[in-house]
Amino acid sequence: MKLSRKIFLLSAVACGMMVAHDAAHAAHHAPGDPADEKARQVLAHMSPEDKMSLLFSVDGGGFNGSVAPPGGLGSAAYLRAPAGSGLPDLQISDAGLGIRNPAHIRKDGAAVSLPSGLSTASSWDMDMAREAGAMIGREAWQSGFNVLLGGGADLTRDPRGGRNFEYAGEDPLQTGRMVGSTIAGVQSQHVISTLKHYAMNDLETSRMTMSADIDPVAMRESDLLGFEIALETGHPGSVMCSYNRVNDLYACENPYLLNTTLKQDWHYPGFVMSDWGATHSSARAALAGLDQESAGDHADARPYFQALLAADVKAGRVPQSRIDDMAQRIVRSLFAQGLVDHPPQRAPLDVVTDTLVAQRDEEEGAVLLRNEGNILPLSPTARIAVIGGHADVGVISGGGSSQVDPIGGEVVKGPGKKDWPGDPVYFPSSPLKAMRAEAPSAHITYDPGTNIAAAVRAARAADVAVVYATQFTFEGMDAPNMHLDGNADALIAAVAAANPRTVVVMETGDPVLMPWNSSVAGVLEAWFPGSGGGTAIARLLFGKVAPSGHLTMTFPQAESQLAHPDIAGVTANNVFEMQFHTDQELVYDEGSDVGYRWFDRNHLKPLYPFGYGLTYTTFATDGLAAGYHHKQLTVTFNVRNTGTRPGVDVPQVYVGLPDGGARRLGGWQRVTLAPGESRQVSVQVDPRLLAHFDGRHDRWAIPSGRFRVWLGTSAVDDSQQVSVHLPARTLAP
Ligand code: BGC
Repeated sequence: MKLSRKIFLLSAVACGMMVAHDAAHAAHHAPGDPADEKARQVLAHMSPEDKMSLLFSVDGGGFNGSVAPPGGLGSAAYLRAPAGSGLPDLQISDAGLGIRNPAHIRKDGAAVSLPSGLSTASSWDMDMAREAGAMIGREAWQSGFNVLLGGGADLTRDPRGGRNFEYAGEDPLQTGRMVGSTIAGVQSQHVISTLKHYAMNDLETSRMTMSADIDPVAMRESDLLGFEIALETGHPGSVMCSYNRVNDLYACENPYLLNTTLKQDWHYPGFVMSDWGATHSSARAALAGLDQESAGDHADARPYFQALLAADVKAGRVPQSRIDDMAQRIVRSLFAQGLVDHPPQRAPLDVVTDTLVAQRDEEEGAVLLRNEGNILPLSPTARIAVIGGHADVGVISGGGSSQVDPIGGEVVKGPGKKDWPGDPVYFPSSPLKAMRAEAPSAHITYDPGTNIAAAVRAARAADVAVVYATQFTFEGMDAPNMHLDGNADALIAAVAAANPRTVVVMETGDPVLMPWNSSVAGVLEAWFPGSGGGTAIARLLFGKVAPSGHLTMTFPQAESQLAHPDIAGVTANNVFEMQFHTDQELVYDEGSDVGYRWFDRNHLKPLYPFGYGLTYTTFATDGLAAGYHHKQLTVTFNVRNTGTRPGVDVPQVYVGLPDGGARRLGGWQRVTLAPGESRQVSVQVDPRLLAHFDGRHDRWAIPSGRFRVWLGTSAVDDSQQVSVHLPARTLAP
């Protein structure tokens, strides 16, 4: 055992990781909570067998060719409510970007897809995130589902993470607020939203077996803080524990994660469901805090939360009170989120309205990274050569359980890859067609980009070349490197050499390396753009809307700058083989210094920093002041639109603790201003960002001393700084 690993396990004990099993059934049901009360009444009349049945969902169909169970609609899982209980069956569907139709099991299973989670987060707009969540929540409800497996809040610790596109980014505050807002939106539609994958499922490599090893204190200040803030913001009815192990113990039988942190410290009243195939025991998992086994008939080695758990109760290994608590938590969430009083009413989806939501989300989330000589917005009368990325037909999406079947069908026929997740799916929202519609007086040609010489000829004949470049990422596998797919790097370099007025539109699952960066005039990071993506991109390029996205992940100059330059065991081999690499350990010795904090701590210069994003106007800030009153650090400043177009600025406040360490995002504001307009802005800093987590006493502690406060356009902006003295203070966890 490595030394650092031993230290983590020891400090885990100090942190209460080995919490007494008694805490497992010490429920935290708030007295007077109406949902709790209603649940108690229902459960008072329920037999032990019926209670037990609430703890186990079955595969909903589409899993390795399985069919939907009787009563199930065809989705990730199904749970039949006990007869006569008055409770609804649980129709459980993936995922965080829209309603999935696994293996096309439902006849009319296509739905509207949001852009990637990174895109929604890059808007820094909690209202937009909430509206996006409400849209997919409504589609879930109209499709007959009442539980949505969406709300991914793992930190994107590594820019090669296969599922980063389902998450929000590398900062706990930003992630917590943005994902929490999406969750609140989903739940506004009487659908339970599931905060996942709890916790440290930050990589896909060996995800079924890997132990993410980290000092629990650092975990509380990073990944767990993100989950904590998402929980407070969104109040999800369920939390999904992840596949991986954390400090040796599987997340779904990890008492520190489930009992101590989630239920005891954060007073979480809802239920914990396992990821599909993440339950490994009956008594151990139940006592550690798992409340419901998901798709246990297909996904797990054995159906643990059925006869085996009943036998545990009979033998006294699990007290009946713990079973009662599990059932109480589940039924409470059904009442709290309105599932009992507002059962889904199936109806055709309002595709036009919903696609507009997805489009606006993308318009706010795309990030303008480069705009030399104001090449953007494009002139509406220019000769434009559009090149590559299947821009003639659609936009790419990420693969895996968050993949939505496109309305209108798939528009790019791939090679027919049999292995999970199959060929990349393109949504039929063509940027080329949208650009032609947006600028009918422009002359816009298309070249597929497959032959570089032909693309170069097209670029030479045009005023501007717009190259679309993709990076397909998917659940189950991390990107083996940070390159764009196929010949994109060579294509862009050649096109830019032929015509320096080249703009690159990137549709990527992750940050990528951009070896051609300084030779192109413009770069728009469009992420996975979603169902309205083509239109959104065209409107951004022609200035119908101004870009307002800001990065939530650092773009490094090279993989050597990363905390972990290599992902141990990542290969381009069969994805299943990779997920099950045995006995992998990943020691996160960078602790809570994730992403920009790692760069700050090590004085590394990124290619594009966290928080960065351009627009079509300019802003100036001044008058920075920081004051500490009523135990609250408040930062005020003025923002002014100094350009000639209306625009949105996202000024960010970063803080530095008196005892050093990397800077932390403390808050932000999204400000819309007309040309010449200015506004005074006030940002309150979440006290946990001013504190260290004190593992010994299980609380946050703000040290006394001078805190630095930066007002920045990104995490590397040092132009405006003040300091403020804070007294020492402790906060309950
Ligand atoms: C994924 C979850 C998903 C579940 C059900 C798992 O493989 O990790 O995110 O919700 O499958 O499809």
